[in-house]
Amino acid sequence: MRELMVQALSSVEGGYDRLAPKFDRTPFRTPDRVLAATADALRPFGPFERGLDVCCGTGAGMRVLEPLCREVTGVDFSAGMLAEARGAHPGAEWVRADVRVLPFDEGFDLAVTFGALGHFLPGERPAVFEGVYRALRPGGLFAFPIGAPPPLTSAWYWALLGFDVAMRVRNAVWRPPFVMYYRTCALGALREDLTAAGFTVTTVPVTGLGRREDGSPRCRLILARKP
Ligand SMILES: C[S@@+](CC[C@H](N)C(=O)[O-])C[C@H]1O[C@@H](n2cnc3c(N)ncnc32)[C@H](O)[C@@H]1O
Repeated sequence: MRELMVQALSSVEGGYDRLAPKFDRTPFRTPDRVLAATADALRPFGPFERGLDVCCGTGAGMRVLEPLCREVTGVDFSAGMLAEARGAHPGAEWVRADVRVLPFDEGFDLAVTFGALGHFLPGERPAVFEGVYRALRPGGLFAFPIGAPPPLTSAWYWALLGFDVAMRVRNAVWRPPFVMYYRTCALGALREDLTAAGFTVTTVPVTGLGRREDGSPRCRLILARKP
C-alpha cells in the first residue's frame, strides 16, 4: 500500500518505473483470462506478420501477440517496465518511446493495447490513435478489448467513479500529474477518435468473458481497420 501511494504521487513514467518489479502481482496488470479471451476473439482475423503492443508494460500483451504474429514488438516509455518485459520475453523487440509520438511508419499488421488508454486525456487520444494508424500497413488492424460500462446500481460503478474523483483531486493539488481515469474511455468517444484518425471501426463480442444479465457482452473487442 505504501509503495502504491508513492507511485501515485509520482509522474506516470516514474510511477511505473518504481512499480515495475512488482507490477505483475498488482491488479493493474491485465489478467490472463482477459488476454486469453482477447486472443480467441482475435484469432479469426489472423495470422499476422508483425504485431505491436502499445503501452506494453511488462509484456502482458505478448500472450496475445506471440501466438498470432511472426514478429512482435512492445513500446512503452517506462524503462523499468521494459526491463521486466525484456526479461520475460527475450525474443521480442522492445522500444522505449512516448506513444503520443509513436516512432513507427507502416511496419505492422496488428497493433493491440491493454489497460492503458485511461492514461491519456481525451485531448491526447487523437495523437495516440494517429500514431498507431501511421504504424500500421494499409489493411492493418488496431484491436483492443473494452469492458461494458458497469450499471449505476453496481459496486464497480461507484468504485471507478470514486477512483477518478480521487485522481482529479490529486491532480488538482499535486505535481507532477498522474493521469489515469477509468471513465474517459467510453465506446462512443473511442469510436469517434478512431474514425477521425482514419480507421474503419467495428466491434465483436469477447465471448470468453461472458454476458451480463441483459444478455449483452461483458466485453467487446474494438477492431479499427486501416483502409
Ligand atoms: C496499466 S499499465 C498496462 C501495461 C500492460 N499493457 C498490461 O496490460 O499489463 C500502463 C502502461 O502504459 C504505459 N504508458 C502510460 N503512458 C504512456 C505514454 N505516454 N507512452 C508510453 N507508455 C505509456 C506505462 O508506462 C505502463 O507500462
